[in-house]
Amino acid sequence: VRIALYQPDIAQNVGTVLRLAACWDIAVDIIEPCGFPFNDRKMRRAGMDYLDDVDLVRHSSWQAFLDYHEGRRLVLLTTKAAGNYCEFAYEEADILLLGRESAGVPDAVHDRADARLVSPMKEGMRSINMAMSAGVVLAEGLRQLGVLSAFNR
Ligand SMILES: C[S@@+](CC[C@H](N)C(=O)[O-])C[C@H]1O[C@@H](n2cnc3c(N)ncnc32)[C@H](O)[C@@H]1O
Repeated sequence: VRIALYQPDIAQNVGTVLRLAACWDIAVDIIEPCGFPFNDRKMRRAGMDYLDDVDLVRHSSWQAFLDYHEGRRLVLLTTKAAGNYCEFAYEEADILLLGRESAGVPDAVHDRADARLVSPMKEGMRSINMAMSAGVVLAEGLRQLGVLSAFNR
């Protein structure tokens, strides 16, 4: 499983996702443009030295990302989904795609996804922080695939 961030605009969130990715040995795709200079101090502060351990691929556009990962299943995490992330069967080659903090993803990206999952929330709540959403759903996917238990502690 990989994580892909669609045009993220908060540097600290990206740093947080990259740190988690380093700890769980997950590759990350960043679909540009980002809303901040990529080597931003706030991103480095959140990601710390873990950033050196991440398998990171930056894509200049949505189309470049699609071309790079042709054939892989795209699983969009979105508040607009009907599918509960706990009831989904994850596969090793899945890409978990997260939207921009300010605006999610455009309709064309939403429609292109092969699956759309929500992390359910209490009535009236709008959304979960992007990095938290990534962690919650990634944990379930890795649990199903036996990746976390393989770390052995
Ligand atoms: C802060 S949210 C975006 C909010 C934006 N206003 C919208 O309507 O999409 C940033 C990203 O986190 C993820 N996210 C946040 N809450 C989620 C939830 N409850 N279920 C699934 N994904 C969620 C989605 O990928 C979303 O695009």
